[in-house]
Amino acid sequence: MTLSPKDRDGWLTRWREGRIQFHVDTVNPILDRYVDRLLPEGFGRVFVPLCGKSVDLGWLDEQGHEVVGVELAEKAVEDLFKELGRNPTITTQGAFQSCRSDGLEVLVGDLFELDAEVTGKFDAIWDRAALVALRPSDRDRYVPHLREFLQSNGHILLCTISYDESKMEGPPFSVCADEVHRHFENILRVEKLEGGINTNPNPCFTESGLDRVLEETWLIG
Ligand SMILES: C[S@@+](CC[C@H](N)C(=O)[O-])C[C@H]1O[C@@H](n2cnc3c(N)ncnc32)[C@H](O)[C@@H]1O
Repeated sequence: MTLSPKDRDGWLTRWREGRIQFHVDTVNPILDRYVDRLLPEGFGRVFVPLCGKSVDLGWLDEQGHEVVGVELAEKAVEDLFKELGRNPTITTQGAFQSCRSDGLEVLVGDLFELDAEVTGKFDAIWDRAALVALRPSDRDRYVPHLREFLQSNGHILLCTISYDESKMEGPPFSVCADEVHRHFENILRVEKLEGGINTNPNPCFTESGLDRVLEETWLIG
């Protein structure tokens, strides 16, 4: 089942109108800190679901990894390659448009329509603002779908946030530690790498009156 038309239009409209407060122009410090735990062999295939135009994609590629992102919004992917100063080769792969340059490929389309038999399996998955971008019913199907892309000895580096849900509905949605354990613990090892209250959160929270957000990082697998 694909993303609902309402959610799909919501994301495409955000990109069209430039309402992308989730985007950051620097490499994510958590990825930098834990990339050796994520890829203990030092090299691998990395999957970045719901990748937006994250600069982490180019950084992972420059580190010598083979990187595949998937993103609904064509505008995000156009901007990504423009900002990287690269001219990707564009092909059609079923329901997806593939944009490829060097070791980086971004598939434009709905993650829920992507088949792991087509992409192959990955050594690592980098989930920043992906699980938390989905509403609860979509998270329940996202996790088993995501696991289909992971090698049996692979790892997921996951960032979650949780907050007072009476103040904000999301996205980003609040995902607490219990939910992370519920999704993954029965099949994969779940290790909390770090966690702490951010008292200076992104404007998308402060605009809703939230001045405290719990941020947690998990290594799964
Ligand atoms: C909160 S943003 C995070 C982007 C990126 N991970 C980052 O850290 O900047 C979520 C992104 O997921 C995309 N998205 C939402 N649902 C999707 C789906 N089902 N398949 C592919 N992309 C999706 C949206 O267009 C948006 O760019």
